[in-house]
Amino acid sequence: MRFGVMGTGQVGSTIAGKLAALGHDVMLGSREPGGENAKKLGLKVGTHAEAAKHGEWIVDAMPGEHAIDSLRGCDIDGKILIDIGNYESAVDQPIVTPLGEAIQAAFPKVRLVKTLNSISAHLMVDPASLGAAHTVFIASNDARAKAEVTDLLRAFGWKDILDLGDLTACRAMEQLVPMWIQLEKFYGGPDFNLAVARQPA
Ligand SMILES: NC(=O)c1ccc[n+]([C@@H]2O[C@H](COP(=O)([O-])OP(=O)(O)OC[C@H]3O[C@@H](n4cnc5c(N)ncnc54)[C@H](OP(=O)(O)O)[C@@H]3O)[C@@H](O)[C@H]2O)c1
Repeated sequence: MRFGVMGTGQVGSTIAGKLAALGHDVMLGSREPGGENAKKLGLKVGTHAEAAKHGEWIVDAMPGEHAIDSLRGCDIDGKILIDIGNYESAVDQPIVTPLGEAIQAAFPKVRLVKTLNSISAHLMVDPASLGAAHTVFIASNDARAKAEVTDLLRAFGWKDILDLGDLTACRAMEQLVPMWIQLEKFYGGPDFNLAVARQPA
């Protein structure tokens, strides 16, 4: 599968590296395709438009405030877009329109799947390294896209994938940012996640 991963930061490089390790053909999308982050990974890097054209699936790993502008004009219609982003402002301000819903509204033909946005980057692609059972949330308006991304999460090693329904779940998912920040302070690092205890289905 060909992936276009937008953003060469911690999340973009972690996801791109894992996808490549799984045998996928990845191009990172960057404002600075010749930049250091991208070079270090040894993967293909292009502009956002080039990475979008390359990808059959797209991953959004950019600061939420800049995602829509960066995706504008890119070849993403009809493609699965995995949105991992959060608004930076969600740390200490209420969310007006959740990012996942805003991107879906801006690009109605995209098959947006929201997931992984409350997970520390290293655990996104290696959940077992925490050494305890923990939960990743997923939501989409497109049931087939959600099922396909669920399969990808399983390939990343996820066992507890909690389907929260359609994209109205984005508000709750993105409002976990202040909790993540608080837990990071408490534990002095990113080695934690939430687990939802519940009766077996
Ligand atoms: N870090 C985590 O553990 C974590 C966990 C869950 C969710 N998230 C979310 O995932 C997203 C990425 O997080 P991150 O930690 O990877 O952030 P980051 O290290 O700050 O990287 C984000 C990348 O986005 C690109 N970018 C930055 N400013 C931009 C702008 N104005 N316009 C377009 N692109 C821009 C940059 O890539 P280029 O310089 O190559 O353009 C940058 O490296 C955020 O929305 C964050 O909330 C992060």
